[in-house]
Amino acid sequence: MRKCWLRLAPVVLALVLPAASGWAQNQSPDHRVDPAVNKPVDDEGHAWWQHAVFYEIYPRSFADSNNDGVGDIPGITSKLDYLRWLGVDAIWIAPMFPSPEVDWGYDVSDYYNVNPDYGTLKDMDALVAQGKQRDIRVLLDFVLTYTSDQNKWFQEAMSSRTNPKRDWYIWREGKGAGAEQPPNNWTSNFGGSAWKHDAASGEWYYHYFYPPQPNLNWRNPEVEKNMFDVTRWWYERGIAGFRLDAVDVMFVDSRFQDNPVVGNEKNAFGDPVEHEINDKNQPELHGVLQRLRKVADEHNAVLIGETWTNDIDQLKRYYGKHSDEVTMPMDFMFTMVNKLSPPDFRKQIDWVDGSGGWPVYVLSNHDIQRVYDRYGDGVHNDQIAKLMASLYLTLRGTAVMYYGEEIGMENNDPKRPEDVKDSRGRVGWPKDKGRDGERTPMQWSAEANAGFAVTAPWLPVDERYKTYNVSSEKSDSKSILNYYRQLLTLRHTNKALLDGKYVALNENDSNVLAYARSYKGQNVVVVLNMSGVAQKVKLNLAAKGVEARSAKTLLSSFGAPERVSLNEISVEAFGAWIGETE
Ligand code: NOJ
Repeated sequence: MRKCWLRLAPVVLALVLPAASGWAQNQSPDHRVDPAVNKPVDDEGHAWWQHAVFYEIYPRSFADSNNDGVGDIPGITSKLDYLRWLGVDAIWIAPMFPSPEVDWGYDVSDYYNVNPDYGTLKDMDALVAQGKQRDIRVLLDFVLTYTSDQNKWFQEAMSSRTNPKRDWYIWREGKGAGAEQPPNNWTSNFGGSAWKHDAASGEWYYHYFYPPQPNLNWRNPEVEKNMFDVTRWWYERGIAGFRLDAVDVMFVDSRFQDNPVVGNEKNAFGDPVEHEINDKNQPELHGVLQRLRKVADEHNAVLIGETWTNDIDQLKRYYGKHSDEVTMPMDFMFTMVNKLSPPDFRKQIDWVDGSGGWPVYVLSNHDIQRVYDRYGDGVHNDQIAKLMASLYLTLRGTAVMYYGEEIGMENNDPKRPEDVKDSRGRVGWPKDKGRDGERTPMQWSAEANAGFAVTAPWLPVDERYKTYNVSSEKSDSKSILNYYRQLLTLRHTNKALLDGKYVALNENDSNVLAYARSYKGQNVVVVLNMSGVAQKVKLNLAAKGVEARSAKTLLSSFGAPERVSLNEISVEAFGAWIGETE
């Protein structure tokens, strides 16, 4: 199935659950300590990132300090107190490097600088320093698979067939009598052939995404050396790690064989659907990631991987046999469950939790439709936002939030093709409207432009901003924001939520997803009613070896009583209840 960085079809893949394997037990806990903030690991041997909540910031849309309608680094710094108040431990900033913005920063023209729209290196240093004071680490987005065609490396590579940097990218002769056809049938994830003809040299270069994003040739050791040096340089500036962009397409088949075509189907761009066996997931990528991890380890840094996969063996490989590859391969599988389905979520959780690595849960990001409308039924969206927060923030593992989820931001998709900013939406319109909708400005207040900027922002603010904004929600005890904050406090302070094992409960219930987090006799129980009618739930804890009849409520989205009987927990439609057994 072709990977898509966009709205994923509401397909739930049938997954084969892994049998408990020796591999899991071989994993050693991470004992490193980050000296920068002098935070020791806990009794369980957990490192800081295992208990952390990460928060993705889309820099163009988060906070605008100079009122030019575009977010920036000083803007982020000015919001660190808010993030601390909320309970965020680390931020991951989507690309903030100089870029011609063909793919909004995912086309980097200089890895050693800051996009002038966003500020300067000094601003970055200030952000890191201010973050440190508040115990918030800063991670960057490492676009390592390709550069911008404006990057000086590619400019040199283009200059002639014999330029020393030529082989830093992937070049081939075309096919056909006059070499006028692309070297093979690989298609770009953003439509059309994945090869672009260079008239000057007569060769074709490879780009998995847009043509101005030429793929680097990671088989060339100089590429590895130079890209690893980029990370060292940033670590030395105090960066706590990287999110690794699109790692699965770092390598292509060295024989450049065609991909098999699947049936007669066409995708949103009108291209044939291919089985991507030759342009994706080539085995060499794991060696590079392991070496990259070594560099990260030398700097006490972490790596989050954009590792879309629905294959358990692949996920395990990303962790590395000895936990020596990607620190946190993001599990995007929740994003494949696009309906409120306890059986489907249960299956995903079992899969990830049983993989042997430390789970990483993500519900939305800058490529995925927001939770508010993805799961919302149009009537109970606020309740559903709280319900979904209660899911990914109470599971065993690290959670990665996306800015604005905590205030119930919804997608604000473009209405007319001429308004589309995401090139993908321009190419795919109307079938694929692009990703602008999930990237709109953060809503800070009820003032004009949601308090984001005085000038019109680069993307229009969601019109619901007068109600859904940080300032108004802060003063409403029942808001989504205050619910998130309570949830994050609970998650950071409750030992069972920090370290407890995940135990599935009432596994045959198709309306309610229930589970416990158990730690040395302490049990936190989470009951999530994913249906539109109130439910009375009898929890069968005895079957899991827990003897308890009642529980005290720790948090609920609907005002549950202080104590409940485990024989009958009443949970409102789309309600979430979290309690601790007594
Ligand atoms: C992954 C990023 O998340 C996405 O936004 C981008 O378009 C693709 N990489 C291609 O650059």
